Amino acid sequence: MSEQPARLADALSAFDQLWSPRIVTRVNDYDVRVAKVQGEFVWHTHDDTDEFFLVVDGELQIALREPDGERTVTLPRGAVFVVAKGIEHKPISRDGASIMLFEPTGTVNVGDRHDDVPDHVDVTSGHDLPGR
Ligand code: NI
Repeated sequence: MSEQPARLADALSAFDQLWSPRIVTRVNDYDVRVAKVQGEFVWHTHDDTDEFFLVVDGELQIALREPDGERTVTLPRGAVFVVAKGIEHKPISRDGASIMLFEPTGTVNVGDRHDDVPDHVDVTSGHDLPGR
């Protein structure tokens, strides 16, 4: 892992693939990942970890199936949100967004349980960025 500073904008400009997180750096046992998203992800659940979202650009919605029922939160640029472990969720961005994620290294983006994965979703625990 490089010890040089990294700009999120540069990291995001290094790839185009949607729903395919890139690892920018690591903190202890956690990855800092960035992803470009548009359209709908897949309903999924992380059984053992919370998942942190920061919207770098655009707007993200996250549909949540909680014990009290289903709701959708809207995250404008600059907003942060944590999906608690065990909560089924589905990120959505109608017009596209760039997001930062913070979660334990090895966490698979589609979680431990998920619906059928559509073709536009890259099943991954994050790809390294070139040169990092
Ligand atoms: Ni998730």
